[in-house]
Amino acid sequence: MDVTNLYLCKDNCQFKTLHLRMKKLSFFAICFTTFCAQAQINHFKYNNNKNITVNKAAVVSAHALASDAGLSVMKKGGNAFDAAIATQLALAVVYPGAGNIGGGGFMVAHTSSGKNIALDYRESAPAKATKDMYLDSAKNAVTILSMEGRLASGVPGTVAGLFATLKYAKLPFSTLIEEAINLAEKGFALTKAQAEDFNNSHAVFTRNNKNQVAFVRDAPWKEGDILIQTELANTLKRIRDKGVKGFYEGETAKLIATEMKTGNGIITEADLKNYKVKERVAMQFPYKDYQIITMPLPSSGGIILQQLFKMTAQKNLASFPFHSKESVQLIVEAERRAFADRAEFMGDEDFVKVPVKTLVSDSYLKNRMADYVAGKAGNSSKIQPGQIKESEETTHISITDAEGNAVAVTTTLNDHFGSKTIISGAGFVMNNEMDDFSVKPGVPNMYGAIGNDKNAIAPGKRMLSSMTPTIVLKNNKPFIVVGTPGGTTIPTSVFQSIVNVIDYKLSAIDAVNKPKFHHQWQPDIISVEKDFDKSLKEDLNKMGYKIVERGTIGRTELITITATGNIKSKIKITAVADKRGDDDARGY
Ligand code: DON
Repeated sequence: MDVTNLYLCKDNCQFKTLHLRMKKLSFFAICFTTFCAQAQINHFKYNNNKNITVNKAAVVSAHALASDAGLSVMKKGGNAFDAAIATQLALAVVYPGAGNIGGGGFMVAHTSSGKNIALDYRESAPAKATKDMYLDSAKNAVTILSMEGRLASGVPGTVAGLFATLKYAKLPFSTLIEEAINLAEKGFALTKAQAEDFNNSHAVFTRNNKNQVAFVRDAPWKEGDILIQTELANTLKRIRDKGVKGFYEGETAKLIATEMKTGNGIITEADLKNYKVKERVAMQFPYKDYQIITMPLPSSGGIILQQLFKMTAQKNLASFPFHSKESVQLIVEAERRAFADRAEFMGDEDFVKVPVKTLVSDSYLKNRMADYVAGKAGNSSKIQPGQIKESEETTHISITDAEGNAVAVTTTLNDHFGSKTIISGAGFVMNNEMDDFSVKPGVPNMYGAIGNDKNAIAPGKRMLSSMTPTIVLKNNKPFIVVGTPGGTTIPTSVFQSIVNVIDYKLSAIDAVNKPKFHHQWQPDIISVEKDFDKSLKEDLNKMGYKIVERGTIGRTELITITATGNIKSKIKITAVADKRGDDDARGY
């Protein structure tokens, strides 16, 4: 970005303050510190921090202005939950491709008092949804309908999720939403990637929206242009003034229902009023000296993650070097088996039976790896392969605060700009999460994932997800906070980032930024990022694997929290924002 960095001493504030104190704790130093704590990032000229080292609190998200919104509420006395709310709301404004109030998500948290939390604010199928709603009269899947336009949307959960998070927060909601309203009303400067994004999406927005939308204009967008979203600002004000009802009832709900009727949408005001957040029991399992806390169903992510850790540990993953042919093959074969189980067994447990205990049991997983042959590619069965799409949209936030709370939130519209439908008069993008259901057994979704009746559509049911917000504890204290977007690549990226730190002792920066690879049973390929080692590709080829280069995998936001020196209470926080996007880490 050529937008320059105008914010004042935000992240080296600590150092400068200390320096002054060493000379003398003068009145000037106190004023300076206070000024630093309150300095706001300039919405029209800002820069990205890719990694920071701090010792109190940190936020990593997909956008600098959103990370800053989270950080500034913590500086005002809020905790990591306050920051999670403020950051998500700001992302809905500054990162409309994925940040959202028209989508859904999951939050996994570990509080300073030792409690684990798993909030499920995933979208649900509307009451009028049916199992065959995306099939034509010949029972063929018409997948464009689950991906684009009004019929593709599930009932959004994000706003209900924010209010469910509020009970763990400290500041009033009106304070937490203030920055998002500001950003929508007064505008902010687009990054280069966002300007390109809007230009590339011009046709699809025009196709799917009858009225003027904020992201569409005749002249091409360019970096530094200011985006103002007045309708969205008004929606946010209704949420500020009326709370959860400001979205799920009254004017906003009416606008959503009306928008649905202008096309083939089926979400009604009753669907919105009936939406409920579900507090789940977080999935927790040990790995070596660590405890891993992650998302249970309706995300497949937690089960897959646990399967990957257990299957690879059985074969002693850590004994093979990082990105050696042995370690990559072992991870790939574990991924193949985990994703085969996803397709066969997983769905919303409130509607179907899922053998979770068996799927993660040591004996079952030992059996799963019984036919693993080192040095020789396995072979997935022959169900039709899907295409893995490279343009995808979800977003993850990792946060830690000075009180010892850790929060990992992944939220999504599913695809880039969701259903591409913006609610007229309310200014926000609706999700296309219905595509995460199995629209027909064996028909791949946009991420190439297949499923069966377990993940079939039913009214009120939540579509199977891969989102894996995760916290790793060491000595019962948060050690890693991690998550990423990336559709089906999410659990494999989270897994690889964690073993990169724990087993391969990579720095947090390398753990995030080193090339990632992915296998999901079907299609039977290893997809790799462009910078994946060439000779490693050749080695894997010789074993019988088909390697396909693809675009970037995920945008991982990772925080590590470690003790420094001999003083046990003093901590070092390293926060890393993925190099693959505009992602940004901030802290103090
Ligand atoms: O819930 C899921 O698994 C998907 N809807 C996530 C989509 C996603 O990560 C796209 N982003 N890159």
